[in-house]
Amino acid sequence: MPMLEKNPESTTSNPVISRVHWVIRSFETIPSMPRRSKTFHRDCPRISTEDPARAREVLRRVVSLGINLIDTAWYYGPHVSNRLIAETLHPYPKDLVIATKLGGKRLPDKGWAFFGRPEDLREGCEIDLRSLRRDVLDVVHFRYMGKSAPVSFTESLDAMIALKNEGKIRHLALSNVGLKELEIALARTPIVAVQNLYSVAGGGGHMARLTHAEVESPDVVLDACAARGIAFLPFFPLGIGAHAQPGTPLAAAATRHGATPAQIALAWLLARSPVVVPIPGTSRPEHVEENWAARNIALTQDEVRDIGAAARAP
Ligand SMILES: NC(=O)c1ccc[n+]([C@@H]2O[C@H](COP(=O)([O-])OP(=O)(O)OC[C@H]3O[C@@H](n4cnc5c(N)ncnc54)[C@H](OP(=O)(O)O)[C@@H]3O)[C@@H](O)[C@H]2O)c1
Repeated sequence: MPMLEKNPESTTSNPVISRVHWVIRSFETIPSMPRRSKTFHRDCPRISTEDPARAREVLRRVVSLGINLIDTAWYYGPHVSNRLIAETLHPYPKDLVIATKLGGKRLPDKGWAFFGRPEDLREGCEIDLRSLRRDVLDVVHFRYMGKSAPVSFTESLDAMIALKNEGKIRHLALSNVGLKELEIALARTPIVAVQNLYSVAGGGGHMARLTHAEVESPDVVLDACAARGIAFLPFFPLGIGAHAQPGTPLAAAATRHGATPAQIALAWLLARSPVVVPIPGTSRPEHVEENWAARNIALTQDEVRDIGAAARAP
C-alpha cells in the first residue's frame, strides 16, 4: 500500500491504523441531530443535500488538514455522499483512502433494510465503484445485520471475498460484529478493520439498542482487534450525551485541558487503544478542525479511567 511509505513511524503493517499521520474522517454530512431522540433511527435528518456547498467545504478541509481516510457508503444519502466526495475531491490525492460499507440499504422512510445477499453486495460494490469513480475500492466493510439477516454471515462474507479476489476491493473490513464473527472471518481472509459502535460509554446500552448495533462484549472485540493489529473504527464516537454534562469527569477534563467535550470524547477513544481510529461525523468545517485537534490532547490514566467509569455507570 502506498500509504505505508508515508508513515515511517508506523509500527504496524495495517494500512488503516492511524495514530498521527493517518486519521480516518467519516463523512455523512449529517446536520446536528437529536442524539437522544427515541425516534433517532427513523427520522433523524441524515440528508446531504441540505447544504452541499458546506459539505464540499468539509471535504476540502479534511484533505487540506492532512486527514487521509474518509468513511462513506453508497447508501448515505442514498447516493449523495459518494457523489459529493467524487465531485469535490476527484482526481483524489494520491494517499487518500476511502472506506465504504456494504450489507445494508436505506428505505424511503429512512429505515434500514438488509442488502447483504451475494447479489446485493455485488450491486452495492458496483455502485460504490461507479459513484466514487474508482477502479478498486480501498477498504470495504461488510456491515453485518446480526442474526436477523436472511442469509448467513459466512455466505455474505464469502461474497465479499469473491469481490476482493476479482480485484474490486483492496482490503476487507467488518462492521457491527462480535468476536465470533471476527474469528470466523479471520479464518477465511485478512481483515484490516472493524467498525463497531463505541464511545466513552462503551459499545452497548441505550444507543446500541436504539440503532440495532448491539454486539456481544464490545470491549472484548476491541481488545481482540488490538491483539491482532486490526484497526478499530468506533462509530457514533461522539455519542457523549449526558456524559458531558457539568460535574462529570468528562466535563472536568474539558475544563482542565481547555478543550471541548467532543474533543475529550475523541481523546479518550485515542487513549483507549492504539488501534482505535475515531470516525466522527460532522457537517461543519470548524468541527473538522476541532476534532482533528483532539489528537493532541493527552489524557492522564486517571482521567481515562474516571471518564469511562462515569459514562458507563447505570
Ligand atoms: N457501520 C455502521 O453501521 C455505522 C453506523 C452509523 C455511523 N457510521 C459511521 O460513523 C460516523 C460517525 O457517526 P455519526 O456521525 O452518526 O455520529 P457521531 O460522530 O458520534 O456524531 C455526529 C454528531 O456530532 C456532531 N459533532 C461533530 N463534531 C462535533 C464537535 N466538535 N462538537 C460538537 N458536535 C460535533 C455532529 O454535528 P455537526 O454536523 O454540527 O458537527 C453530528 O450531529 C458516520 O458518519 C458514519 O461514517 C457507521
